[in-house]
Amino acid sequence: PRAHLTLDPHFTVGRINRRIFGSFIEHLGRCVYDGIYEPGHPTADSNGFREDVIELVRELGVSTIRYPGGNFVSGFRWEDSVGPRSERPTRLDLAWHSTETNEVGIDEFALWLEKTGSEMMYAVNLGTRGVLEALDVLEYANIASGTALSDARVQNGHPKPHAISMWCLGNEMDGPWQLGHTSAEDYGKLASQTAKAMRQLDPSVELVVCGSSSAHMPTFGAWEHTVLEHTYEDVDYISCHAYYEEIDGDTASFLASAVDMDHFIESVVATADAVRAQLGQTKKINISFDEWNVWYIRRYHSEDKITEIDSWPTAPRLLEDNYSVLDAVVFGNLMISLLKHAERVTSASLAQLVNVIAPIMTEPGGDVWRQTTFYPFALTSRLAVGDALELKLSSDTYETTTYGEVPIIDAVATHDDETGRTAIFLVNRSQRTASEITIDVSHLGTVSLLETHTLADDDIYATNTLVDQTRVTPSPNESASITDGVLTITLPAVSWTAISLG
Ligand code: AHR
Repeated sequence: PRAHLTLDPHFTVGRINRRIFGSFIEHLGRCVYDGIYEPGHPTADSNGFREDVIELVRELGVSTIRYPGGNFVSGFRWEDSVGPRSERPTRLDLAWHSTETNEVGIDEFALWLEKTGSEMMYAVNLGTRGVLEALDVLEYANIASGTALSDARVQNGHPKPHAISMWCLGNEMDGPWQLGHTSAEDYGKLASQTAKAMRQLDPSVELVVCGSSSAHMPTFGAWEHTVLEHTYEDVDYISCHAYYEEIDGDTASFLASAVDMDHFIESVVATADAVRAQLGQTKKINISFDEWNVWYIRRYHSEDKITEIDSWPTAPRLLEDNYSVLDAVVFGNLMISLLKHAERVTSASLAQLVNVIAPIMTEPGGDVWRQTTFYPFALTSRLAVGDALELKLSSDTYETTTYGEVPIIDAVATHDDETGRTAIFLVNRSQRTASEITIDVSHLGTVSLLETHTLADDDIYATNTLVDQTRVTPSPNESASITDGVLTITLPAVSWTAISLG
């Protein structure tokens, strides 16, 4: 199959907000404990954080990091995790049936972020708590000093406020599994009250209200509509969460997962804009796609789980998916989808960052390594700068069981006026054949190829593991060339590619 693409730096979709390259650290499994934090590890710094992990987080190019949950947050008391460690209570984490030692909390996490060069996005508990506790943690984090809670932070060794801008008003409140799950009506009222109160304390905060935990929730659409009717004036973002997996060997549909993500984003934008019209508002509500990834969730649900009252493990191995080439291609395509909607998706968080459905894996006392998904994230974060461009793409199509007829090739391009650099990201969803793609780059002036990276493998199920940590890595795509303003490149079957021009 062949495909053709035309791009013009004048036709822009929107500025890429760096927050689109965010991630997520939840107190879940080995994400925090034995993940980012392992005091006994040979590379641990004076705070117990693994320097080898920090190095890879920096290499990944992560902007904002959502914390401390996820489902965990709906049972969390933030004040348990500040102050002298010896006085911090050990608690049950009902969401993941684990023990939470509270060794790491908001202050330690802020120290870790200084080293990774990322920004904190903090989720308040609106599952089992409410307005007052949200105000308390905001006071603790953002007030300089002179009040009980800000002085407590100073006393705890953090004289400077954490100055957190991005706040999530709870987590997945539409999900029956969520502690404190409630109706859109009740959640919308609570979120509105909480948002108003938080802004009275700190008018500069940017607030994310919970949208649906998947586009396949029975309440999807209606949830967003009702919640935004209650909160439109109070919030800046509505969240989207989506996880994709290969189901029953249907590789063709799995490869087209980004079609679902496109549809999800466009539906939420349409709903938000409908509420905008209904309420006579002018501002636009943007999307914080604050959980997205490939996650073999069916496998997780089918596993035997510890549920006994006398067994609450600390940092158990949970959700430790080992990602294949195929997973990484789908993953790269999900990033293409986020970029295509850069005008309205202005924040996103890859869920999650270390060990738990993560691009970075660690072994206690041992190595850290990159999963296959590490590469599309790191390359996209590094190369996608400036504006996302509107593309004219023509591609052959193929038939899927889940999404009907879909294009074989998907792509997005970005252009940075400052450096004059352009980046193009492409996937070939065909399982059978390579595709030759021609790209009209004449509108860019005289440009040459700076970098090409293709992720593909004869074994699409190949993975990186502790024993074979570099089995899968991207390679330069030697087929790429530019003649008379036309870039030609061959994309192998089931592949993800990044091209940088300048
Ligand atoms: O990322 C894993 C879990 O997925 C999060 O805790 C929850 O918000 C979502 O259901």
